Amino acid sequence: MPLELQHQLNIKKTLDESSKLDFVASLRAFVLNDMANKMRSRYEDKVEPTFERKHKRKPESGTEVHKALMDEQYFQFYSSMRCTAQRMVWNSVIDPIERNYDSLSETATKLIDADNLDENQSLEIPRNVSALDVHLSPGGYSKEYNDHDITTGAIYDNGLAVFSFGMMGLNLDDIGMSMANYIRHTFPDFKPEKIVDFGCTVGHNTSALAKTWSDAEVTGIDVAAPLLRYAAARSKSQNLNVKYSQQDAEKTDFPDNSVDMVFSSMFLHELSAKVRKKVFKEAYRILKPGGLMLHMELPPADQLGAYDNFYLDWDSYYNNEPYYKGFRAENCQANCVEAGFAEEDYLQFTTPQYTYISDDEYQQKINQDDQDMDDKVGRLSNELSWYGFGAWKNNG
Ligand SMILES: C[S@@+](CC[C@H](N)C(=O)[O-])C[C@H]1O[C@@H](n2cnc3c(N)ncnc32)[C@H](O)[C@@H]1O
Repeated sequence: MPLELQHQLNIKKTLDESSKLDFVASLRAFVLNDMANKMRSRYEDKVEPTFERKHKRKPESGTEVHKALMDEQYFQFYSSMRCTAQRMVWNSVIDPIERNYDSLSETATKLIDADNLDENQSLEIPRNVSALDVHLSPGGYSKEYNDHDITTGAIYDNGLAVFSFGMMGLNLDDIGMSMANYIRHTFPDFKPEKIVDFGCTVGHNTSALAKTWSDAEVTGIDVAAPLLRYAAARSKSQNLNVKYSQQDAEKTDFPDNSVDMVFSSMFLHELSAKVRKKVFKEAYRILKPGGLMLHMELPPADQLGAYDNFYLDWDSYYNNEPYYKGFRAENCQANCVEAGFAEEDYLQFTTPQYTYISDDEYQQKINQDDQDMDDKVGRLSNELSWYGFGAWKNNG
């Protein structure tokens, strides 16, 4: 079931609109669970054995699996259904947003104040954002349709509720909650006072940081103003103390050694390799010694098998995610080291979802230390876990 957003920017839908959202969310769940499982069976029962007979070995990479599957009708069916469902996600939310836009915009304007939103009109929007309707989302992140526009924020928030078919929690913040609580339980002495979320979009996961470390000063940065306006209103309506600032993560205005934690989720894979390196260096520059850089991301290719790599890289080919595959092929630890972090200060982990179990149960689960890298990691389906990596900035 798609969710009603749990804040004042939730929009009233007609019965037809709600039914459409329900249908699209169910379709996504069907494609990503039932059809995905069936495609894997087809691969194992038919495509892989055929490949093996021909090449006297199994496919060794995601690219080989992809090539081998290309002529398989079920792969074509799956891909076509998934692309259609993706477009339907955005299309299903645009009508109710358009119909309610005036009241939505008025509510947002009332909620935003100078304290929690800092716009920079002269910021140059990077090409990875301005020139791309990333994941087939119309207008991408930064398109502005009027002054003080919040359209792309509204599309993202409402769209994510449908896209995630109930798997991201009521506030769509399960990634942030899982990452933050993993760190809170694993490093109980780490109490960040100043946190920055790079590429925060509508602040749904930024809010999880503010909830977990309620005394911290939390700032979400992004290059896209319509997202940040929406994020500022969203957090305010939830009585969360989060600031939003329009900045490029490549070059922020935070002083050297001033931040305890730099966080991001699902951000790095939307950057070119060149920009990603600069972002790592920027995180290193602004972190205090003893501070933590933490990224939630797609799991790296070298830690998964050929089929899972094909499955995760699908978005690079069919979902307007041009940097996805390149990111997954990189070595996260080497990137951290290149940015200045010491090799031994690197960390990586997988975490179960925090949202749907008690805090005690969650703690027990992460202590069991059996969170292997498997086909549940980073893959939206009925059972999933998240991958995180990062590094501590050396104290001395
Ligand atoms: C996939 S979204 C991140 C999603 C969000 N963090 C979450 O938890 O779901 C990527 C975001 O990064 C922003 N972005 C892209 N390049 C950026 C840059 N150089 N600096 C800051 N934000 C950037 C985009 O505008 C977009 O909002």
